[in-house]
Amino acid sequence: MSFEGKVAIVTGAGSKRGIGKAIALCLAQKGADIVVADMNLEGAKEVAKEIEGLGRKAIAVEVNVTKESDVQQMVETTLKEFGKVDILVNNAGITQPVKTIDTTEADWDRIIAVNLKGTFLCSKAVLKPMMEQKYGRIVNISSVSGKRGGGVYGGSHYSAAKAGILGFAKALAREVVEYGITVNSVAPGLVDTDIRAGLPMEKERAIWETIPMKRPGSAMEIAETVAFLASDAASYITGEDIDVNGGSHMD
Ligand SMILES: NC(=O)c1ccc[n+]([C@@H]2O[C@H](COP(=O)([O-])OP(=O)(O)OC[C@H]3O[C@@H](n4cnc5c(N)ncnc54)[C@H](O)[C@@H]3O)[C@@H](O)[C@H]2O)c1
Repeated sequence: MSFEGKVAIVTGAGSKRGIGKAIALCLAQKGADIVVADMNLEGAKEVAKEIEGLGRKAIAVEVNVTKESDVQQMVETTLKEFGKVDILVNNAGITQPVKTIDTTEADWDRIIAVNLKGTFLCSKAVLKPMMEQKYGRIVNISSVSGKRGGGVYGGSHYSAAKAGILGFAKALAREVVEYGITVNSVAPGLVDTDIRAGLPMEKERAIWETIPMKRPGSAMEIAETVAFLASDAASYITGEDIDVNGGSHMD
């Protein structure tokens, strides 16, 4: 699997132990140049430096994926620096462990905005350059929570956003198929990152017990599946979602 000559934008890639960082490194290890996009510019810069250490080109871009002007700027910067964009990974996301009865309107709007609206805005922003070059790979990070209905670490708003991503991806996949663009999603189960910072270890272990493989996934295990969907090995796959969850949900 080679990404030599390919340019990828990975959102939410500035987190030290995050899935986005693993995706950025994984694609770079396989030859891609990377736009490390995150609200956390310092974190993004560190990841970009690590990628340069691998001999690839990388830039860090500050973006809030819920703001269309930020997202457009991110894509413009990519085109200015690299001349094209081949791959978009919609990874930026947040969660909140809260019951529906305690979820405020502001909670709902925030979780939907980052996870779902962000995926829409970033995807929309890369469509024109991808359609013009008649090639593109969009890969979204959904969640097992969106497929089986919570039960890991997020409220119903998070499940709704992550399920919404899957519907959005299928609809977009049909729209852009004639332009050589594929749109797919990965639905991780529990992954060892900082998104659940603050979850007590006994609760974490109780979740492990519900997973047939009895452990969380690593960020790199998610990244390898994203890389597959972003590669030419997946050229006949679109509108699909792949579970990477140690067996915690099977369909
Ligand atoms: N870790 C898990 O167990 C797990 C499971 C299923 C799905 N996911 C999904 O994987 C993705 C990555 O999560 P992670 O576990 O690496 O979390 P993380 O908190 O380590 O990383 C998330 C990154 O997104 C960035 N971000 C947040 N809001 C943003 C915004 N508005 N604009 C731009 N960047 C923003 C953060 O700064 C951070 O760098 C998320 O979409 C998450 O929902 C995670």
